[in-house]
Amino acid sequence: MKAIEIKPDIYWVGAIDWAVRDFHGYVTPSGTSYNNYLIMDDDITLVDTVKYDFAEVGIKNISTIVEPSKIKNIVVNHIENDHVSALDRIMELAPDAAIYITERGKKGIERFFDISKWNINLVKTGDELKTGKYTLSFIETPMLHWPDSMMTYVKEAKLLISQDAFGQHIATTARFDDEFIECASHAELEESVIDYYANILMPFGNLIKSKIAQIQKMGIPIDMIAPDHGVIWRGEPERVLEMYLDMANGKTNLRVAIIYDTMWHSTEIMTQPIMQGIKDSGVDCKVIKLRATPMSGAIKEFWNSRGCLIGSPTLNNEVFPSVAEFMTHLRGLRPKDRITGAFGSYGWGGGAVKWLYNELSSMKLETFEPGVQAQYRPSPDDMDKCYEFGKEFAAKVREYHSKYE
Ligand SMILES: Cc1cc2nc3c(=O)[nH]c(=O)nc-3n(C[C@H](O)[C@H](O)[C@H](O)COP(=O)(O)O)c2cc1C
Ligand SMILES: [Fe+2]
Ligand SMILES: [Fe+2]
Repeated sequence: MKAIEIKPDIYWVGAIDWAVRDFHGYVTPSGTSYNNYLIMDDDITLVDTVKYDFAEVGIKNISTIVEPSKIKNIVVNHIENDHVSALDRIMELAPDAAIYITERGKKGIERFFDISKWNINLVKTGDELKTGKYTLSFIETPMLHWPDSMMTYVKEAKLLISQDAFGQHIATTARFDDEFIECASHAELEESVIDYYANILMPFGNLIKSKIAQIQKMGIPIDMIAPDHGVIWRGEPERVLEMYLDMANGKTNLRVAIIYDTMWHSTEIMTQPIMQGIKDSGVDCKVIKLRATPMSGAIKEFWNSRGCLIGSPTLNNEVFPSVAEFMTHLRGLRPKDRITGAFGSYGWGGGAVKWLYNELSSMKLETFEPGVQAQYRPSPDDMDKCYEFGKEFAAKVREYHSKYE
């Protein structure tokens, strides 16, 4: 897609990746984009680069505006491969460009490139770079979501180039939020913000709150937020800030996600009376089979629900592997503000449900115990127990949810 002017003399010069379906394990049904920005000022400045596979696309885009050798400054907001892997290609074309990067960013790019001949300038929060009519102000955002991460604020344009934060993994010809809402929908845009937050930013809620508070305290007016993935927020930049604050404060739906797997369907059969019990208590419920659902999809369903029940059969004294995989993902995302429980079918000694409760407790999630279990096929009596378990769990979820309203 060709370059687009997003502010006077500031251009989007990124690349749309229509084909990627697995972004480091995150499923991207429509693809994603690698956004970067070219500031055509006295000192021509490129903010971020693209993924290596798209280096030539990015360079072609830049070339429609200016000869790449004329680039004077390159800001590296984040050193993850999707944003920095084309840096050496750009440096071949503009070898004298000055790079602006955080200290930890520099330590990281040394692992990828020979930077001995590069002009590297370390920056920290509050440092400024005057490019002519524009002033770039850097804001470090360590661990949002890597140690090196920072954002770049273009003062005179009231533009926050926010790096991964506020991004969405969507491939679209729409470059702005309002355009996307017109060609798709508001709901779809918000879904992709939630999906991205759940899978990438879930562990960093407290950091997000303090960073947004810091930015608000700095009193910098923002009328556009340009992330490095997905659409640029020009219609309602405050809406995405509000969504992030809500999510960081634990806002979610009064809903239960039943996330399970099964070998011979017994655990699966148990999901149905549990779901019915939840539904009959007036709480919304979704049933998600792990091997039928991409991992990032299951994480999103977890995030979108106040309560979560995890079901697993016992296999060789252990939890079922796909359920263990889900739990590993979940543990890494350090979930909070959710109430959980477990259930499953077993043949003899069992073990999966006990393991699940241990895991949920070690994640410091609220748990509803004991779970419900059935030997082999659930009997009519087991099915009644499942239904009651669903009802009781729904009542607990409702009570727990009221704390957030
Ligand atoms: C390969 C295999 C290993 C199993 N290992 C155990 C075990 O160690 N302990 C146990 O209680 N049940 C074990 N089971 C029995 C299952 O847990 C039991 O069949 C259960 O009903 C399966 O639930 P599902 O239909 O939801 O897959 C095993 C089953 C299979 C197929
Ligand atoms: Fe990243
Ligand atoms: Fe990224």
